[in-house]
Formats: sequence, C-alpha cells, structure tokens
Amino acid sequence: MARLCTGVAELDRVLGGGLVPGSLVLLGGSPGIGKSTLTGMALGNLGAGGHRVLYFSGEESAAQVRLRAQRLGEAALDVPALAETSLEAVLATLEAERPAACVIDSIQTLHAEGMSGAPGSVGQVREAASAVMEVAKRLDCAVILVGHVTKEGAVAGPRVLEHLVDCVLLFEGERERSFRTLRALKNRFGATSEVGVFEMRSGGLVEVVDPSARFVSEASAAAGSVVLASMEGTRPLLVEVQALVAPTEIVPPRRVANGIDRNRLAMVLAVLARHGGPSLSGADVFVNVAGGVRVDEPGADLAVALAIASAHRGEPLADPEHRPLACFGEVGLTGELRPVAHADRRIAEALKFGLGPVLCPAPTELPAGTEPHAALASALRRARRGAAERAA
Ligand SMILES: Nc1ncnc2c1ncn2[C@@H]1O[C@H](COP(=O)(O)OP(=O)(O)OP(=O)(O)O)[C@@H](O)[C@H]1O
Ligand SMILES: [Mg+2]
Repeated sequence: MARLCTGVAELDRVLGGGLVPGSLVLLGGSPGIGKSTLTGMALGNLGAGGHRVLYFSGEESAAQVRLRAQRLGEAALDVPALAETSLEAVLATLEAERPAACVIDSIQTLHAEGMSGAPGSVGQVREAASAVMEVAKRLDCAVILVGHVTKEGAVAGPRVLEHLVDCVLLFEGERERSFRTLRALKNRFGATSEVGVFEMRSGGLVEVVDPSARFVSEASAAAGSVVLASMEGTRPLLVEVQALVAPTEIVPPRRVANGIDRNRLAMVLAVLARHGGPSLSGADVFVNVAGGVRVDEPGADLAVALAIASAHRGEPLADPEHRPLACFGEVGLTGELRPVAHADRRIAEALKFGLGPVLCPAPTELPAGTEPHAALASALRRARRGAAERAA
C-alpha cells in the first residue's frame, strides 16, 4: 500500500512514512499549538503533488482559513476549504469529491443531526468519528481528525476516539515558546517512538532538522545549566536543563518543574540530600528544560541533579570556552547511577557537538570519550572538579 507523503518530513517520520490511504489519524493538541497550521501545510503539499485534498473547518470561517493559508504560501492557498459543521454535509462532500486526503478541523465541532447532545459531547464525537471512518475506509481516503486536548489531556472528546482511530498524534509545546514536538501515542502502521521537532515562524511551522545543534548553541554557560543527552524516540537529542535554587522562608518550599516530571524532581532532590548533594529544604528549586521541550525519561535524572547542585553552589559546569557539560543517566533511590537505553547514541550525539567527556552511568562497555560513574556522589564530585580544572 503506497503511503501519501505529506512533504512535512517530521510529520511523515512520526506517521511511519506518510499517511496510509483509508486510515484515520487523530491529531490532538492544546489550543493554539499549531494543529491547523500543520494540517494545512500537509494538505497543501499533497495537493501540490497532484492529490485531491479537502479541508473541512468547523472552527474558522473560510476567510480565516484563507488568511492562514496566505501565511503558509501558495500550496496551502490551493487547498479547497469548506466551513462545515454538519456531519451529513461532510460525508456527502467526501462521497462526491472522493479526496485522497482530508482534514476535519476539529472533530469536536461536527454535529450529527440524528443525535442528541451538543457538538463535542462524547456521543456526538464518537458518532461523527465512526461515520467518517466508515466512509474513509470505503473511499480509501486518509483522514486527519483534529482534536482538542486540555493540558491534562483529560478532555472526553478525543480520548474516546483513541481506540477507534489508527493513529494518535500529540502536538505539544508551550504556546509562548517556539518549539513544538509531535509524537505518536498510537500507530497501527508504524513505531510510536518517533518524535518530530518544529518551530513556529511567521511562514508557518518549520521542521527543526538538527534540534541538538539549536539547543546546544543556545545553552548557557552559567551556573545551573547542563546539557542532557536525551532520547526522543529513536533519535538522540541534546537539550539544556537549567536549575535555579533560591533561599526561601516558605514552608514547604516550592518545587517547580518545566519539561520534566515533578515527581522525578522530588526524588532527585531527596537522593541529593542523602547521597553527597546539597540538602535544599530551605530553598525553592526551579528546573526547566530550555526551549519548551519535554523529556519524559529517567535518563534525565543526572542532568537534573547536576544542574541543581551547580545552581546551589553558584559554580558553572561549563568549561572556560563555555562548552557545556553533557550528561545522562538515571538516579536510583540508593544514590546509584543506573544505565539507560541507547548510551552509545547519546554519547555519539554529544561528541558530535564537541561536548565531552560525557558524564554517564557505569556501563558494560563504552567507546572512548566517556567517563562512567557508578554513583551520583562521584558524578557530582567529578563535575565539580572538572569545572575547576577546566577553569584553571
Ligand atoms: N504571523 C505569525 N508568526 C508567527 N506565529 C504565528 C503567526 N500567526 C500565528 N502564529 C502562531 O500560530 C499559532 C496558531 O496556530 P494554529 O491556528 O495552527 O493553532 P491551532 O492548534 O489550530 O489552534 P486552535 O486550537 O485555536 O485551532 C498561534 O499560537 C501563533 O503562535
Ligand atoms: Mg485550529
């Protein structure tokens, strides 16, 4: 079965090589993240490639859709857009036009006539999606359903669709920041480990081909900053982890985590206090993954610990040439450093950007240019000594 390449390389990669004809893709994301932009670009490219495409907009008028298309360029302008909220009308149009691909933006705005309940209610959404699916499979039309998800991901609407559709994509990021990530939560036709990184610009979403280079070049050499060699799916990604430690009178002190899991931050703080790091019961601690990226993996622990310790002492971890320190590793509850998956690729990525030696857990075998540590305490000492030596 030939896939339809959307021409948005990161989207194609996350999909597992493009859209599968007749499949249903649910694209979820919080408001304003760029769902309409992404789907508009994909349809524009497909249309330019000679495929029949259709864009149904239930949220915006045809004029608004056109305004966005103007921003995105000529290909997007050529996509036929219909402002339509009636399910029956959408189905009839699909039957008549038989597009190769279409976008329904959003599934929550569709309204089935025979059904009670407001648009966006669970019953309506489920009814609309299954009716669309039936037609899409029959006509071999690839459908992208846009769905709203609140920050907690708790909206009933799209969640009830997850079983029904073939593929669930989540578009994430903070609206105020320019970086966005696209990942697959479910994919019947490909891996769910791939992640695409985009940046929102005036001309639309731009694929960030080499996100590591971006994040490393933006990394700060100040105290509290360290580079984490993380894995985003099957791809290594270098991101900057920053920490700020500030004395406080507030009880309990604040623990703010952006881009990492709050519970892991609490765990790392507890391990630091017991195993060779500072005890921060009298300080607010803020940890941030720069650029609005989210890293949800235990491999981030060591970076969080090193950034906090560095921020607490006010001692930078970067060397005199402002080369940041790179690291990765899981921190265990007994203060040990635990190996994580894909150590070789993380290290290779860091070395590619001239960041080495990489601080990491003691491994089974490692290539040159690495410096394994079995315990958090020893990594803390090494990081500190390293910075001092490099500064001398
Ligand atoms: N000229 C511009 N330059 C840069 N960014 C822009 C410009 N115009 C819009 N944006 C960005 O595009 C985002 C909106 O994109 P889009 O409409 O695709 O999001 P959406 O996820 O479809 O939103 P909604 O949930 O409202 O449908 C805005 O948050 C804004 O940051
Ligand atoms: Mg939209």
